[in-house]
Amino acid sequence: MIIAIDGPAASGKSTVAKAVARRLGVRHLDTGAMYRAVAWLALEGEVPLGDAVVLTALAEANPVTFEYEEGEAIATSVRIAGRDVTAEIRYPVVDANVSAVAAVPGVRAALVCQQRILAEARDMVAEGRDIGTVVFPSAEVKVFLTASPEERARRRRIDLANQGHEVGQDEVQQRLEKRDTHDSTREASPLEAAADAEILDTTGLSVEQVVDEIVRRAEAAR
Ligand code: DC
Repeated sequence: MIIAIDGPAASGKSTVAKAVARRLGVRHLDTGAMYRAVAWLALEGEVPLGDAVVLTALAEANPVTFEYEEGEAIATSVRIAGRDVTAEIRYPVVDANVSAVAAVPGVRAALVCQQRILAEARDMVAEGRDIGTVVFPSAEVKVFLTASPEERARRRRIDLANQGHEVGQDEVQQRLEKRDTHDSTREASPLEAAADAEILDTTGLSVEQVVDEIVRRAEAAR
């Protein structure tokens, strides 16, 4: 069974998807981490982010891998090109550049292919932007999470502060809006809810409430 969780940046996807995966005892797949890893590799190699051909070749030649401890739902590390990039892919420089990389159709095709292989013959909670629409259109459960821009900026600012990056609320909100506009207006698989996805606005809801609702749907679909 595939549980697809899509939504904009800082909508609560990661927290919710990880908790759902733990509750159901199935692996969590963070597809955003894969776009971030390719963006990190491009930045590291000083690849011009406007060069779709080179970016596509980079994504095709360097599969992203996740390490899971025995029986664990959540990956402990993300690797690309022989490097552990678990921390680096969360740096603000990656935040600022990942949308450009994720807009390249060839990069998307390479990563979608890797995502389908990672979910072969296993249950999975996959989170991203195009899981219910493109990667797993026949997922048994599809949820699209949203939250108000203010709430999302508040959550992202706290995440960044916890990682030692102090950024003001307004600046965080502007950056998020810029990334959302980029992700929603790109031609290749723009961020949008699948027609058959349940749209859940998490503003004012606790993580528990959202997780309970998704687990209930997953159990009903089993
Ligand atoms: O979920 P995130 O913030 O870690 O995602 C990083 C970027 O990757 C985000 O700008 C959108 C993009 N992305 C995507 O285009 N498709 C996905 N399935 C996952 C993420």
